[in-house]
Amino acid sequence: MDSILVRGNGALNGVIPIAGAKNACLTLMPATLLTEEPLTLTNAPRLSDIATMTQLLRSLGAEVAALQDGQVLALSSHKITNHTADYDIVRKMRASILVLGPMLARDGHAVVSLPGGCAIGARPVDLHLKALEAMGADLDLRDGYVHARAPGGRLKGAVVDFPIVSVGATENALLAATLAKGTTEIRNAAREPEIVDLAQCLRRMGAQIEGEGTSTITIQGVDRLNGATHRVVADRIELGTYMLAPAICGGEVECLGGRLDLVGAFAERLDAAGVSVTETPTGLKVARRNGRISAVNVTTEPFPGFPTDLQAQMMALLCTASGVSVLEEKIFENRFMHAPELARMGARIDVHGGTATVTGVETLRGARVMATDLRASVSLILAGLAAEGETVVSRVYHLDRGYEKVEEKLRACGAQIERIKG
Ligand code: EPZ
Repeated sequence: MDSILVRGNGALNGVIPIAGAKNACLTLMPATLLTEEPLTLTNAPRLSDIATMTQLLRSLGAEVAALQDGQVLALSSHKITNHTADYDIVRKMRASILVLGPMLARDGHAVVSLPGGCAIGARPVDLHLKALEAMGADLDLRDGYVHARAPGGRLKGAVVDFPIVSVGATENALLAATLAKGTTEIRNAAREPEIVDLAQCLRRMGAQIEGEGTSTITIQGVDRLNGATHRVVADRIELGTYMLAPAICGGEVECLGGRLDLVGAFAERLDAAGVSVTETPTGLKVARRNGRISAVNVTTEPFPGFPTDLQAQMMALLCTASGVSVLEEKIFENRFMHAPELARMGARIDVHGGTATVTGVETLRGARVMATDLRASVSLILAGLAAEGETVVSRVYHLDRGYEKVEEKLRACGAQIERIKG
């Protein structure tokens, strides 16, 4: 298993290009199952999760070609030849559940392995299943798989009222509703930019959708969809992660392709902590306003609130702030596994349930630490960039799921960072 070696090396200055969004691409790719015609995705990120989704779609009979060094994905599902999403692929990546809605909508039947939990929580899929049942699907859970069937071969429009906001369940319902007979209204829908991106792509394919980005999305089902070409929206989580690099180290970095509307609540917390975020014609420029970072409180919420996927990275910044910060994790039940690793670097963090209290220290000290999940891994790298001495982050396969070329992007701004083949 590879590791990443980071040496604290002072301020970072330069430009970091932001890639296409992993979590948009993972819901856009299954849209190929909704049509016989070709779907082309540009600005696709080069990540192991994308490779996993490619493997899954190919196992169902889709053709997926990665062109231009993987930045363009050419997908086509002339015919779904296998309607079973196998456990061995699904267990590697929870987003695999997003093939359920499209297969059911296209052919009226599907068998998808339950994804199982992951490090940050149980991650049930009950809301995905409730949505599809509301649309008429008969679901039978047995031997770890969901066996789904639409009576008469076609889902029907329905009111889908989510008790809590779920990004994935909203995406599954949206994908399925495009071909259902009649009108679907999704209430308490997720409002994330990735949902808006999916709706815009589906509309380009001929879907009739209104309200994406609000809590109520209305879809008028159609009989078939066309192919389309769609550019994947910029990755707001990668963006927020790299905005934190100059915040934690000092210096000034421009994140190319970054948009303030993608990171509003996060940028507001950075501003409160003493970090200036300026829109430029090509992205977002970030620098500390003066001296030390100030402690701030953070509560994670569904978009447009502070994203849970930036909580670990923000904690790394607040470990070196002056004062005491309180971070509340309201989305997942176990998303503070980076805290004990940061403590090995001298951070002072008390975790009680979903609340972490961080008492800032002047400097962190390099140490050997272990990545436990995707966003925790990059939080440890950020801490290592600011720490005195050397930090070695192990199990960086987590990192490769969501960040392309992280060493190159940071080295280009003066970071001392390298990968140790393991
Ligand atoms: C998506 O996961 C993202 N993944 C996650 O990013 C992100 O953290 C999460 O949304 C929240 O923003 C992808 O888009 C591939 P949810 P998802 O359904 O859809 C509970 C990363 O680092 N829930 O919005 O799985 C769930 O347990 C990943 O890129 C149910 O109870 O998240 C959680 O507590 C990590 N039943 C809450 O809802 C369900 O059927 C929000 O989960 C579904 C979810």
